[in-house]
Amino acid sequence: MIGLPLDDASPRTKKYTSVGAASLIIFLIVFFSTNLFEYTKIFFTTIPKDDSNICPVGKPIAPASFYKDNSTVLTILNNEEYREKSIKRLSGAIQIDTQIFDNQPDVDESPKTWEKFENFHKYLKKTFPLVYEQIEVETVNTYGLIYTWKGSAKKLKPILLTAHQDTVPVQNETLDKWTFPPFEGHYDGKFIYGRGAADCKNVLIAILETLELLVIQGYKPERTIVAAFGFDEESSGLRGASRIAEVLENKWGKDSFYAVVDEGAGLSKDPITKTVFANPGTGEKGYIDILVDLTTPGGHSSIPPDHTSIGIVSELGYLIEKDPFEPILTPENPIFEYFQCLAVHDPKNKIPKFFKKTILRAAYDKFANAKLVEAISKNRITKYLIRTSQALDIINGGVKANALPENTKLLVNHRIAIESNVADTIKHFNKRVIEVAKEHNLKVVSFNETVYEPKEYNGAGVFNIYSTHGGLESAPVTPSNDTVWKYLSGVTRHVFEDLVFTNISYPIVSSPSIMTGNTDTRYYWNLTRNIFRYSPFYVESFIAGMGIHSVDERLEFDGHLQLHAWFYEYLQAIDTAKADN
Ligand SMILES: *[C@@H]1O[C@H](CO)[C@@H](O)[C@H](O)[C@H]1NC(C)=O
Ligand SMILES: *[C@@H]1O[C@H](CO)[C@@H](O)[C@H](O)[C@H]1NC(C)=O
Ligand SMILES: *[C@@H]1O[C@H](CO)[C@@H](O)[C@H](O)[C@H]1NC(C)=O
Ligand SMILES: *[C@@H]1O[C@H](CO)[C@@H](O)[C@H](O)[C@H]1NC(C)=O
Ligand SMILES: *[C@@H]1O[C@H](CO)[C@@H](O)[C@H](O)[C@H]1NC(C)=O
Ligand SMILES: *[C@@H]1O[C@H](CO)[C@@H](O)[C@H](O)[C@H]1NC(C)=O
Ligand SMILES: [Zn+2]
Repeated sequence: MIGLPLDDASPRTKKYTSVGAASLIIFLIVFFSTNLFEYTKIFFTTIPKDDSNICPVGKPIAPASFYKDNSTVLTILNNEEYREKSIKRLSGAIQIDTQIFDNQPDVDESPKTWEKFENFHKYLKKTFPLVYEQIEVETVNTYGLIYTWKGSAKKLKPILLTAHQDTVPVQNETLDKWTFPPFEGHYDGKFIYGRGAADCKNVLIAILETLELLVIQGYKPERTIVAAFGFDEESSGLRGASRIAEVLENKWGKDSFYAVVDEGAGLSKDPITKTVFANPGTGEKGYIDILVDLTTPGGHSSIPPDHTSIGIVSELGYLIEKDPFEPILTPENPIFEYFQCLAVHDPKNKIPKFFKKTILRAAYDKFANAKLVEAISKNRITKYLIRTSQALDIINGGVKANALPENTKLLVNHRIAIESNVADTIKHFNKRVIEVAKEHNLKVVSFNETVYEPKEYNGAGVFNIYSTHGGLESAPVTPSNDTVWKYLSGVTRHVFEDLVFTNISYPIVSSPSIMTGNTDTRYYWNLTRNIFRYSPFYVESFIAGMGIHSVDERLEFDGHLQLHAWFYEYLQAIDTAKADN
């Protein structure tokens, strides 16, 4: 008999009657012709104990200073007077308008456009006088900021903390919907409101508050601390972070930093396990806007062809939406690791055992992988973590009621899956355009290369496919099995278990995750493999809770102090060669 896993589990010795044999044969046919065999394999998978090498949880890590005197970090978190002062500092930062818009001219071209950042710089200098006195501050492209606090140990790679000064605009039509005006920085006893409160003046202020405090205490770092703030993250970062990265790479070299900690998700209650998880972003999807421009002969609309350029591009749009990108989930994707973490750290037993086993087999078992993909794809928020997204965002065509549209243009926005790339995305796009072109006898030029030409081209028209930017590959994935990760997650355990949620009964697990959006970190890839999009503070739901880019952007102030406390402990904890890989 074929050795089924079933046999090991329940050996049988009983002789079969002929009826029994017949039913056994039927059973075997059903077993192998349906998914029953696949389900059985999952069923007999064992769930490893916590100490396995799947999503291991390191020890909490506190800096030595904490054991000598824990009063400063406790003051940050719990002292009323300190809280009041901190509210004032963040509120003041929100009150200074640093909105930016798309397609702003360069700083040199139009200094006036960017002048408002001057006010922001003045505010920072006034609010953090000791930072400006004792730490080297330089500007890049006028409004980019780099703070360098030289450490005594040249051998230790510097740490880079980043945030951005700019915010997205407040749309005038929404002004009356805000509970408190967006540039007032109002604190209502629990939340601080305003544009930038959560994205991400909170991070910028928490970093400077931490540096100011360390300077006041006469701290002497061994590891150099660098902080850098761009000023156009919300419109591609080309003028800010991109130039800052150049300066940093020239000064320090490639792969010269210990880690980069930029804005990102933090801690929240996991919707599946209902326990607190930390989710440092260790990856980031790629990005490309692909435009397709169809030019056809014009003419009078009283004698139209069967299909105008608008009709043909509409057909293309229909085809694109009918054919979404396939999901793909491999161990390369941080989301894969995230699910593995859930499977082995579920103290409240919220995940059905069978689903846990499915997750655990998903690395090498096609059937289990498909089941997991199916589950992830059911939810719109998680669905796009494992596939390239496509969104038809702009369409233009036609100018006049009695003239045929000579030109129609479509822009499709793509966020590229971790396992895919820009070239594959373009290839996929070309294929659909060629399909439509064949039907209408059109030429296709893609990125300046003719990719389709009809046999008997009669001048019916040309599709031109291009992008206004080069496209961005998905980010190199940050390791989550090294010492740098151990310190990042260890300090998180320390701050949130020892100081914030003091009566929590399970370890706070850090699990890798990805951002579907892009941040300034895209410019910092050359500086280190260890890039974290991570703002460790607790919010019940990262997506719903903060009104990011929207009306009533707000931040629960406790969260701000947690972030500040985390930076304070983290900078000291990694200030040793032991924290290096
Ligand atoms: C802070 O230090 C004091 C004095 O050593 C100690 O009693 C207290 O338990 C510490 N608090 C925390 C949260 O570790
Ligand atoms: C809102 O209105 C103000 C004043 O009228 C104007 O300066 C600003 O550009 C407008 N903002 C947006 C986003 O349209
Ligand atoms: C490629 O095409 C774009 C527009 O589609 C054009 O601006 C650019 O000059 C072309 N590049 C080359 C090398 O021909
Ligand atoms: C981490 O995992 C990667 C990929 O499996 C491996 O190549 C690397 O050696 C591991 N690093 C450490 C420090 O264990
Ligand atoms: C922790 O304990 C306090 C006091 O015993 C209680 O009020 C609070 O709800 C507990 N918090 C959690 C998260 O269990
Ligand atoms: C990173 O280094 C490569 C190779 O030297 C260079 O081409 C690229 O421009 C650098 N990337 C950034 C974002 O600076
Ligand atoms: Zn941001």
